[in-house]
Amino acid sequence: MNRAESPLLEIRQLSVFYSGLQVLWEVSLFINRGEIVTLLGANGAGKTTLVQSVFGLTKDRKGQIFFEGTEITGLPAFEMIKRGLALVPEKRELFPKMTVEENLELGGFSKREGIVAPEEIFKFFPILKERKKQLAGTLSGGEQQMLAIARALIPKPAMLVLDEPSLGLSPLIVSSVLDAIKKLNQEGLSILLVEQNVQHALEMSHRGYILETGRIVKGGSSSDLLHDDQVQAAYLGT
Ligand SMILES: Nc1ncnc2c1ncn2[C@@H]1O[C@H](COP(=O)(O)OP(=O)(O)O)[C@@H](O)[C@H]1O
Ligand SMILES: [Mg+2]
Repeated sequence: MNRAESPLLEIRQLSVFYSGLQVLWEVSLFINRGEIVTLLGANGAGKTTLVQSVFGLTKDRKGQIFFEGTEITGLPAFEMIKRGLALVPEKRELFPKMTVEENLELGGFSKREGIVAPEEIFKFFPILKERKKQLAGTLSGGEQQMLAIARALIPKPAMLVLDEPSLGLSPLIVSSVLDAIKKLNQEGLSILLVEQNVQHALEMSHRGYILETGRIVKGGSSSDLLHDDQVQAAYLGT
């Protein structure tokens, strides 16, 4: 397969174990250039484990990860960033005692070519510009999530993996965070979005996968999934 034909990110037959206990079972999925793909699944399904495994952050695993057609399985996280793959982890991992600006500067630590100036990123998140001297720990939940996303954008990734960016946010703020993610995709960023806001996530994405107790049980276009009886019963309460 040449680079143009291969998916941007591909996970092949990923199995993960914690203390010998299997939590992911031969999970395969892919994201093409320009797509937003949503990964849905209840608490404990294995979504975070999957995301962490892409970045080599789980210890006991089988399977392969490809980025732009090249195998990246087990590479250190800074290597992934250099290649253009970035993670916004579930816990955000900001530095609470540092300012907005300082947190963004740290995003540039593993530089790759074409690094983005914070000024450029403020266009997407104007609220962060207003608050650039404020300590990250004193921002609202929504602002902290925006800062976590903004920081991941500094090395100018081709693809962003977002692990439940709306976790713990009020419904109104969820919308503004998800809308910002959609805008980033419209600017050309490819996105793997882990979400529990099923309706909103599917409406803004191209395709989706459903993970149930460590197995992909369904995958398809977002509109097919939105109209799927099983999906409606299990995730949309209709
Ligand atoms: N570090 C860990 N050690 C042992 N078990 C874990 C660990 N992290 C997650 N698990 C277990 O793996 C399963 C999947 O968890 P997780 O990937 O966090 O799911 P999700 O993100 O979908 O809520 C759960 O049963 C969880 O209890
Ligand atoms: Mg999780």
